[in-house]
Amino acid sequence: MERITIYEAQKCTSPNPITLVCAQMPDGGTNLAAISWWTYLANKPPMIGFAISKRSYTGELIEQTKRAILSIPGEALKESAFRCGCVSGRVVNKAKEFNIEMAKGFPVHSKLAFVCSLESMLEVGDHIFYACNVEEILYNPDEKQLYCWDGYKRLGTL
Ligand SMILES: Cc1cc2nc3c(=O)[nH]c(=O)nc-3n(C[C@H](O)[C@H](O)[C@H](O)COP(=O)(O)O)c2cc1C
Repeated sequence: MERITIYEAQKCTSPNPITLVCAQMPDGGTNLAAISWWTYLANKPPMIGFAISKRSYTGELIEQTKRAILSIPGEALKESAFRCGCVSGRVVNKAKEFNIEMAKGFPVHSKLAFVCSLESMLEVGDHIFYACNVEEILYNPDEKQLYCWDGYKRLGTL
């Protein structure tokens, strides 16, 4: 076996999951960030967790509101969900700019939506890991789920 970097390992484990982490902004709107690093943590009670860069606006909003919705985006959001990972909500209202139709705080074209409350946080290098209680899970069987391909280069279905 050969030694490789973490970036190369992440390409090897692709396709990776993709979510849009939805967090409420002070003006009542919703900020959307493309986040691949999420995982289930427990079934009893249902818990999930995700790691977000310390520099992100999303982390700041979750710490203020103690809430987030994790949306698994459907195929209609192939381009726009990727764009949510390329710019900060500090400078752009992403839902508005990228024409993402929203309802009840998350994109209409979601395959799944995990409605969460913040349980605890852990500093992990240059990221913060947010462990959350899942209060409700909503499912739309008609949406085709997106994944990250070639590491985190593009989104597409399986
Ligand atoms: C496909 C993809 C996956 C990403 N996954 C993560 C991730 O797991 N954690 C993270 O901190 N940033 C991730 N990013 C980068 C954030 O989405 C990006 O920094 C975003 O601008 C943060 O937005 P915010 O400042 O509005 O919170 C990803 C970007 C892309 C394109």
